[in-house]
Amino acid sequence: MVGYVLNLLHLYLLFHPFNLTVSQNIIKLVIILYIVTGIGREARNQKNLIYNIVLFAAAATSFSYNPFASAEPVAPDVKGCNKPTLPQGVEPLTCCPPNFEKKEPIDYVIPNYQTLRIRKPAHDYDNLEKYKKAVNIIKSLPDDHPHSWTQQSRVHCAYCTNSYHFSWIFLPFHRWYLYFYERILGKLINDPNFTIPFWNWDAPEGMEIPAIFIDKSSPLYNARRNQNHQPPMLVDLNWNGNTITHSNYTVLKAICRGDRSGDVKANLATMYRQVYEVKRPICFYGKPFRAGQKPYSLKTGSDSIELVPHNTIHSWTGDSTQPNDEDMGAFYAAARDPIFYSHHANVDRIWTIWKSFGRNDVIDPDYQNASYVFYDENENLVRVKNNDAFDTKKLGYDYKQLDLPWLKAKPDPRMSKRYRHRRRVKKLDLPFTLLKDKIVSTVVKRPKINRSQVEKDEKEESLVFSLQFDRTKHLKFDVLINEEEDYKRANPKYRVFAGSFVSVSHASRTSLEVAVTETTFSIGITDLLEQLDVDDEESIVVTLVPEYGDEVIIKDINISFEECKSQ
Ligand code: C2O
Repeated sequence: MVGYVLNLLHLYLLFHPFNLTVSQNIIKLVIILYIVTGIGREARNQKNLIYNIVLFAAAATSFSYNPFASAEPVAPDVKGCNKPTLPQGVEPLTCCPPNFEKKEPIDYVIPNYQTLRIRKPAHDYDNLEKYKKAVNIIKSLPDDHPHSWTQQSRVHCAYCTNSYHFSWIFLPFHRWYLYFYERILGKLINDPNFTIPFWNWDAPEGMEIPAIFIDKSSPLYNARRNQNHQPPMLVDLNWNGNTITHSNYTVLKAICRGDRSGDVKANLATMYRQVYEVKRPICFYGKPFRAGQKPYSLKTGSDSIELVPHNTIHSWTGDSTQPNDEDMGAFYAAARDPIFYSHHANVDRIWTIWKSFGRNDVIDPDYQNASYVFYDENENLVRVKNNDAFDTKKLGYDYKQLDLPWLKAKPDPRMSKRYRHRRRVKKLDLPFTLLKDKIVSTVVKRPKINRSQVEKDEKEESLVFSLQFDRTKHLKFDVLINEEEDYKRANPKYRVFAGSFVSVSHASRTSLEVAVTETTFSIGITDLLEQLDVDDEESIVVTLVPEYGDEVIIKDINISFEECKSQ
């Protein structure tokens, strides 16, 4: 009987684990338990249950959400902020910004900006002295000051252990976050037009850690970065966790007479695929995350740029000698590194570039009205909404226009169709487990072949995966389509390389159930199939190449047609 009740309560918790604060959960469930089992009975079981409740509630996030809302925009319950659960061995940490629980947020009114502030690339940044000065001031503020450096990084920790990653909240949340970071810095140095630099890893000039971050005497320096990835090491937008050491690289570079074009080409082709080729808003923005919805479920899914290169650059930059690749390689710690803000400024910039291709916003009201709470530069606690963040000019800033060499970096079909030979592959039964050292191939049937151009413009043929994995660990696997040669050499430069799934360690490691993460992941393949010249074939061969991390359960793989116009 007690076991049955406990199971019921567990089920209840599974559906609402992230909605209540720890203490609310405890009180509520103790009451339910008492009613159902008789007062005072089974005290030992209750103790265990309460322990489990604490784990469930705390592990989800440090902000809580309206528990009974369904299909509504997400909004953090600032009064319900509690401690996040962190990876093992990490000192306990409160991520909640100071005095959140005592204040009522006010709706933010965007000032009427007269001049447009232009964010510049880090390698050509003319505000360095001001930035250093501002960061020195912010770092000197006491930890509990709403503007302090510690608080800036904790905002990320408070929000980002929930589905703020892995969903459509990703881009607008980070836009607002950087906006206030920049406004606060500007206020501290009395320059209302101050702008932060962006790290444009999407073009050859930006494909190294920018010099402004490697001067050890600068407040923009951080020692917790991968020491093998210092300049002149080229950034790898597809990083697979395998590092050539700095000295080896120098030797290699000498051998190649400084020609780094092989890697540049792979990086550019990656940008082409992950940004230019993405037409569906839902794929660029990520899948819905609504109030009352369980985070990390099959309903949520990351956007294309979030997986690659956003996640890969987090992992590439973080210090692999730290337990969780801190700082950049673990989300609870990432924003302690000043390079975080420039990395995200570039993600934000790529969003503006994608829109400039004439692509659509998500028009779902739950997306448009999702809201966040921040301290603004005047220390007011303000509530902001997604729909005020769609146009950076409305927020008073824009990005310096730079060349976009990746627009022309379409990957090459490696061999023309008539030279390829067909591998014999059979369809694997689903679900199956992708083990860490084993490459697998399966056949996926296409519901429709040879669609007309009108159909293609309306709907993208999408390869959709349903996955289950442990989000406390890093993970990457690549997806190849109709690879018929030596798959080990498959490289993003070539057309058979369709995309990657990448996860960066998310905080929370207390019980196995909590870490189990489900998500969907989809790749648009309309252009790819055309270029491989197989648009007339009834099925495709999908090859999964595990790159690093633990096993993943592949629950489903199918092809569907997804709307490109709006969502
Ligand atoms: Cu919220 Cu790059 O992470």
